[in-house]
Amino acid sequence: MAEKLWGGRFEGSTEELMEKFNASIGFDQRLYKMDIEGSRAQARALARMGVLTKQELEQVLKGLNRVERELDAGTLPLTDDLEDIHTAVEKRLTELVGDAGAKIHTGRSRNDQVALDERLFLRETVANTIAQIERVMGAVLNVAEAHLDILMPGYTHVQQAQPIRFSHYAMALFWMLARDRSRFEDCWKRANAMPLGSGALAGSAYPVDREFLREELGFDRITENSIDAVSDRDYFLEYLSASSILMAHLSRFCEDLIIWSSSEFGFVELDDAFSTGSSMMPQKKNPDSLELVRGKTGRVYGNLMSLLTAMKGVSLAYAKDMQEDKEPVFDTAETVQMSLSVFSGVWQTMKIKGERMADAIDGTILATDLADYLVRKGVPFRRCHRIVGELVKTALARGQKLEELDLPTLRAASEVFDTDIQEILSAEASTAQRNLDGGTGRDSVLRQIEAGRRLLTDGEASG
Ligand code: ARG
Repeated sequence: MAEKLWGGRFEGSTEELMEKFNASIGFDQRLYKMDIEGSRAQARALARMGVLTKQELEQVLKGLNRVERELDAGTLPLTDDLEDIHTAVEKRLTELVGDAGAKIHTGRSRNDQVALDERLFLRETVANTIAQIERVMGAVLNVAEAHLDILMPGYTHVQQAQPIRFSHYAMALFWMLARDRSRFEDCWKRANAMPLGSGALAGSAYPVDREFLREELGFDRITENSIDAVSDRDYFLEYLSASSILMAHLSRFCEDLIIWSSSEFGFVELDDAFSTGSSMMPQKKNPDSLELVRGKTGRVYGNLMSLLTAMKGVSLAYAKDMQEDKEPVFDTAETVQMSLSVFSGVWQTMKIKGERMADAIDGTILATDLADYLVRKGVPFRRCHRIVGELVKTALARGQKLEELDLPTLRAASEVFDTDIQEILSAEASTAQRNLDGGTGRDSVLRQIEAGRRLLTDGEASG
């Protein structure tokens, strides 16, 4: 059994159950690259302070390379008695290079070390997430552009509301993702502070050159307060929040596409590559890809709740509760990464069935347009609403579409109706009225697509 880093003041040995309960190595081994990167910088800083000689620094750097290779290859056994990845790396290093390795922890605590590793991990994870979001944004833009003029029913309450362009619907997703991207960019910026030098909580007693460490590790600033630096897990909470909102967005589009891929709607058809079948019913082609993204949303919310709850009321500075921060984050990183890949695959491959969409537009969807017509002729909107409501009743009773009602019927409801009514009574005409910025008119959607392309190509750099 490995000797404890902190064994000096103890007489008895740790209960096996306690060792298992206490160990984070089972999951924090995921941070080994970051831990080694931090240790390299730490060794260089120690050499500048004269704690390590030039020769010892060489030994330590070589030793760390070797530890990294062993961990890459999976040949270094990571057992619970090693407690965590910080201990495992330091112990192995010391085994390899002796006293020089035993000096590496000078002025450092696992409290600032873990904060550093996590921030390094998060920077990488967030940068990948941003790149993936951008890939989805690109796919959505392409779909919108390729299907610019497909008209479909727009829904509220899953009831037909007004005609829209399918491309307009797709661009709604694009703008949601643009905000998600910007949330992750914010998260990245705030996480980008270097905590080493904070020690356990009071700051290192050695004159650690924090500026040097910052530079070495590529951070844009150093943390301002050592107590805060070892207590802070905001960076993870923000990441989990941004991930939860992102998943909420994806789940809503999953829901729509799932419904739309049913035979009743038939608006889209998922590619075989992102569908699965039934073991019993030979005809089935199920949208499992989208159902899983929708389902995994719950798991990401759970991870956010889990860490918020773990952090609640934790006395400053560090307490072991905080070790519970890693699994929700690792699980989220994996879940979000897979979900974005699958979701983007679905968008790149699904078939958009424009005719079905246009055919589905029902006979009362132009009611608002009728009311707007009366408004343009000077009738107050509330009265128009009433008049058109009556006409809808008539049309439904006769089994006619609104646009099929003849002029005498219309004029019986309001004298203001005239022959020019025919010009506005089509889905095309309805969308053509809506070319204001943000509307579903053709020009408006084209402007959105252009703005989207610009945002995607000259958007903020995320590092
Ligand atoms: N494994 C610990 C964690 O993840 C590292 C920090 C331990 N610090 C301590 N004072 N025991 O939180």
